[in-house]
This record gives sequence, C-alpha cells and structure tokens, in this order.
Amino acid sequence: MKFFVDTADVAAIAELNDLGMVDGVTTNPSIIMKSGRDILEVTKEICDLVDGPVSAEVVATEADDMIAEGRKLAQIAENICIKVPLTWDGLKACKVLSDEGNKLNVTLCFSANQALLAAKAGATYISPFIGRLDDINIDGMDLIADIRTIYDNYGFETQILAASVRTVNHMKDAALIGADVATAPPAVIKSMANHVLTDKGLEAFMADWAKTGQKIL
Ligand code: G3P
Repeated sequence: MKFFVDTADVAAIAELNDLGMVDGVTTNPSIIMKSGRDILEVTKEICDLVDGPVSAEVVATEADDMIAEGRKLAQIAENICIKVPLTWDGLKACKVLSDEGNKLNVTLCFSANQALLAAKAGATYISPFIGRLDDINIDGMDLIADIRTIYDNYGFETQILAASVRTVNHMKDAALIGADVATAPPAVIKSMANHVLTDKGLEAFMADWAKTGQKIL
C-alpha cells in the first residue's frame, strides 16, 4: 500500500520523505487554511520536495470554473494531481481534465456508486472518507471493501485512496482490504511504529545492558 501524507506541513513531509515513507501528498482547502500559506506557493514547495503525486483541490463548484482552476493548478508542477469533489460538476471536470492528460483525485466519496461514477469519468484516484463515515456510525472500511470488489469486478484502473484516516487501525484495515493508497496525517503514520511491548522490551534490555558495564562505542 502506498502512503500519501495528508498535510501541507512541509517540515513534517520532509521528515517522512527522508525515511522513504512518502509516495505522495494530499491537501484540501482546510489543510491549506491550517498551513496559513498561499496555496500556489506551498503546493509548489511540496511538489519540489516529493517525487509522487501532490493533490491540490479546486474550490469552484461549477464544472467550467473547476476546469479553469484545475488547469491553473496543473501548471504548478508535473506531479500535480488535480482534486475535484464528487459532485456531478466535479465528475464533468474530472472527465475533461483527465482527457487532457492530468491526474485526477475525486474526493469526498461516501458511497460505492459515487466511486463507480468516478472511475468511469477517468479518475486516477478515488478518495473514500473513512473517518467521516465512522463519525456517523457507518463502518468506513465496508465502503473500501465494496469499492475494491467493484473495481476488481470490472478491471477499473482507478486507485482506491483511503482518506480521512484517523487511526493506525484505519491504516492496517485499509491495507488488509487492499486499498491502493492510504493518506494520513504525519502523526498517524509515525504512531504506526509504536507498541507498548516494544517500549517494555527495550526498557528491560537497557536495564540488563547497564548491568554488564559494557559499551559498544
Ligand atoms: O484525506 C481527507 C482528510 O483531510 C479529511 O480528514 O479527518 O477532516 O475527516 P478529516
């Protein structure tokens, strides 16, 4: 499973990128707002830093305006992936922009039927929002599994990008189901390294090592 980082925090992206953990980056209007940065500037900086696709989202709601914004965002760098919402206008924009050779991420997906439409409109990635479904007591992972089945039934090449990932269990479950990508905040990716038994085991090793009086260096 590929890891995308769901942030516009350049320092956090750089830290994970140095470890080979970054296959791409996703942003959205809320993430840009949180960064306090200009969208064109910060997106360019991220595109220069990582090799993989960097999703930048349009903010228009009419197809023609989305297309114009998408074309402008695509000029930022070669690795831009234009993000459009899963509305009828968003699907129209997806079709036009993907036919022009751009990568498209169709976001705010909450149903398998929406994902089916996005694939037919030429989406490179579909972004089902796991955490926001969990928020309303619907298991977001069931949606990932349904989309996996539908895409595999018909050989759609659109990649499933599990989004609104909030926990390490979301990462594990997305990987078990076979999501192509999961995008998560840096803190979630980093906390995948944590285990209480690792901490406990290390503590015991350090205590025993101290008793030996030895040094390696
Ligand atoms: O990947 C989409 C993400 O940014 C939304 O996450 O936690 O606001 O639902 P959240």
